[in-house]
Amino acid sequence: CGIVGYIGKRDAYPIVLNGLKRLEYRGYDSAGIALFDGEDLKVCKTKGKVADLQEKMENEISITGNIGIGHTRWATHGVPNDINSHPHYSNDGNLVIIHNGIIENYDPLKKELTKRGYTFKSDTDTEVLVNLIEDVQKQQDVKLGKAVQIALNQTIGAYAIAVFDKRKPDEIIVARLGSPLAIGIGEDEFFIASDASPFLEFTKNAIYLEDGEMAIVRTHKEIKVRKIHDDSLVDPYVQELQMNLEEIEKGGYDHFMLKEIYEQPQAIKDTFRGRMLPDQGIIKMAGIDEHMNKFLNAKRIIIVACGTSWHAGLVAEYIIEELARVPVEVEYASEFRYRNPIIDKDDILIAISQSGETADTMAAIKLAKENGAFVFGVCNVVGSSISREAHAGAYTHAGPEIGVASTKAFTTQITVLTLIALQLAKKKGAISRSKFHEYLVELDSIPNKVKKALESNDLIEQIAHVYKDAKNCLYLGRGFNFPVALEGALKLKEISYIHAEGYPAAEMKHGPIALIDEQMPVVVIATRKGHYEKVVSNIQEIKSREGKIIGIVTEGDVDVRDLADHVIEVPDTLECLTPLLTTIPLQLLSYHIAIALDRNVDQPRNLAKSVTVE
Ligand code: G6P
Repeated sequence: CGIVGYIGKRDAYPIVLNGLKRLEYRGYDSAGIALFDGEDLKVCKTKGKVADLQEKMENEISITGNIGIGHTRWATHGVPNDINSHPHYSNDGNLVIIHNGIIENYDPLKKELTKRGYTFKSDTDTEVLVNLIEDVQKQQDVKLGKAVQIALNQTIGAYAIAVFDKRKPDEIIVARLGSPLAIGIGEDEFFIASDASPFLEFTKNAIYLEDGEMAIVRTHKEIKVRKIHDDSLVDPYVQELQMNLEEIEKGGYDHFMLKEIYEQPQAIKDTFRGRMLPDQGIIKMAGIDEHMNKFLNAKRIIIVACGTSWHAGLVAEYIIEELARVPVEVEYASEFRYRNPIIDKDDILIAISQSGETADTMAAIKLAKENGAFVFGVCNVVGSSISREAHAGAYTHAGPEIGVASTKAFTTQITVLTLIALQLAKKKGAISRSKFHEYLVELDSIPNKVKKALESNDLIEQIAHVYKDAKNCLYLGRGFNFPVALEGALKLKEISYIHAEGYPAAEMKHGPIALIDEQMPVVVIATRKGHYEKVVSNIQEIKSREGKIIGIVTEGDVDVRDLADHVIEVPDTLECLTPLLTTIPLQLLSYHIAIALDRNVDQPRNLAKSVTVE
């Protein structure tokens, strides 16, 4: 689920290939590239990784040409295999396309085209689209850009596409609806990609297409951007990119995930820098402060998100209700959008998304907006679709997160949401001045405490070796740490493929306790603050059934140490802030178990970083 393209004076192949490598983090199961060298249109594709594609290309075809498009595919229609991989040709062999997203009405379109004599090699919706474009071109005798537009207006679904015609190799047509697409502008050359990382070293000037827009990218010409539905011209906004290449490379770590785990002290600091001023006892957050009335009048806050971001939402529910006393509901975006939810204009919807591109979260936002709610986005990727769709928002400033399993995005999301909770609490008078101040000072000390928590890395690696062959694992926590238990279990599942479940510790006796035997590792978050004695009793219950206990405890703990098979300490902090620390050992534990099992940590099977399909 990544696309890359190049048109200009250089060799397209290395640019497209390296671009695909940069997009690997988005998750995929096959890859392909098309090049045109003035005579031959060459397409090479394969199931597997970009490295496999590279080997195949360099052995099988000549890799010359100044125009090229490349794709990494995450299967939706049709299994991952060579034939279903992109690029796809049209029947006459002139058009070639790459596509992210889903054409939902591909079936009737395919039937219609089949009646007209078109044949299909693959099971994909994409091959239908490229033949539809060819058909329009032929039937209506129009230029490629127009044909693409007419064809897209017949589709239902989501897409980011790039298509070119070998008879007119000085232009690429791109379009987006629901899947991101950036165009890098060089001197007489253009780059196309799902995000800017493939072309950062060539240009810092980029246009991000909006939903419903298409562009004709032509060498020696200005870019023309139009609305797909009514053909009106759009004046594109050329953005100057701030990212640098180093930020998206591994920097000495074996994996992006480990690098990102270790970046958390800095990432959390970057997230509150300039927003939290403990000396003056204030928080300044433009996105919140400018809309404070909305927040103060809100009867309810609804949080929508998916995956790890949903877990951050759950932590936020506990924190916002505790500090600001505003009712909060947390929903999976995918459930919310399809269940006719009650939303009104006094509701505030907070959408949390690392990528800012998750299709379900985006759809939930649109639904809330239609119903008059005020939408606040918490995103990490600057300029992402969700950050632009929301009425207001706050970025997490975690820096690029490349590992598919989310780590620093989670802790920085919690940081931003804690700042929001504190600011609301203060303005509502729900918290005393001194308490507010105490929070700021404590939050300020969290980056150093995260550093301290990271020091358990070697111990955690040893523990990982003890449990790497477990078939199941249970994670328990209470209160603020219940969502952390869910997140710990998700991390383990995602990257080690070991089945794991998170539960509120007290719920164990209503079911999961039946699973406990001497084979079952149980990770229990048992920090001193927050129902400590109750959690210790839960640990006793596991112990009496011979379960193996890994306790996440506060420094200096003795009670759990007596009972548990292993303990991992984290520094003491205020109860609300414990998730920022207890998460760290759980991330490291899943990392080391996955490494011990020789898993592909940064790109776990079947997962995608940015899920732009529903
Ligand atoms: C995918 C990723 C998860 C992520 C979720 C939500 O499933 O693999 O790591 O938590 O999407 O993504 P978002 O970008 O909206 O936070």
